[in-house]
Amino acid sequence: MTKSDFFSGISASWDERHSTPEEQERLRRFAVHFRLRQGDRVLDAGCGSGRLIPLICAAVGPQGSLVELDFAPDMVNIARGKAKNGRVEFIVGDAHSLPMPDGDFDKVIALALLPHLDDRGAALKEFRRVLKPGGMLVIAHQLGREALDRLHNESSEPVRRDLLPEKLVLAGLLATAGFSSCEIIDEPGQYVAWALA
Ligand SMILES: C[S@@+](CC[C@H](N)C(=O)[O-])C[C@H]1O[C@@H](n2cnc3c(N)ncnc32)[C@H](O)[C@@H]1O
Repeated sequence: MTKSDFFSGISASWDERHSTPEEQERLRRFAVHFRLRQGDRVLDAGCGSGRLIPLICAAVGPQGSLVELDFAPDMVNIARGKAKNGRVEFIVGDAHSLPMPDGDFDKVIALALLPHLDDRGAALKEFRRVLKPGGMLVIAHQLGREALDRLHNESSEPVRRDLLPEKLVLAGLLATAGFSSCEIIDEPGQYVAWALA
C-alpha cells in the first residue's frame, strides 16, 4: 500500500479524532508557534483533513491567503469542506515536487508531516524554493520525538518506520536545503523547528 493510499484510508477517522472541541482548543494554543501575521501567504504542506484552515484564515486575515496541499485525495476532499471563503486553494500534490513557482509564500507550515517524508532533503529544498527570501518554514509536532516515534513504531506499514530526526540531524538537513538560520525545540511534549529561507 502506498502512503498516499494509507492516509486516504484513515482520512475520515483522522478528521473525527482531531475535530473534537478539546483537540481544536489544544491546536489553537499550539498555533502560536506558527508565528502567523496578517497578510501572510501560507502553504499548509501535508494539510490532512484541513484542521488548520480556520486558525490560519483567522491569523492571516482578509489580505492573506492559504494553499492546502496533501498527496492523499480523500484528505483534501475533507479539507475542502472546511473553507469558508475563496482565499483557500486546494491541491492534491506531493511535497517532494511542489507545483508552485519560486518565492510564492511567506510561510510554509508542516504540521505532523516530517516523519512521513521519504526524502526529507528533497522536500526541504522544495519548501525553501517556494518561500520568499526571509520567509519561514515551521515544522511542528504536538508530541515529543520519543512519544511520536513510539506511536509510529507501533503503527502498521507503511508508516511504522517514519521517525523524527534528532535535533542535530534536522539542523544539518535544513542547512543543506539552503535555509539560513534555524531554531529547534526537541523536548518532551513538542518538537518544533523554525527555519528562514
Ligand atoms: C499525520 S498527517 C497530518 C495532517 C495534518 N497536517 C494535521 O496535522 O492534521 C500527515 C499528512 O501528510 C500527508 N503527506 C505525507 N507525505 C506527504 C507528501 N510527500 N506530500 C504531501 N502530503 C503528504 C498525509 O497524506 C497526511 O495527510
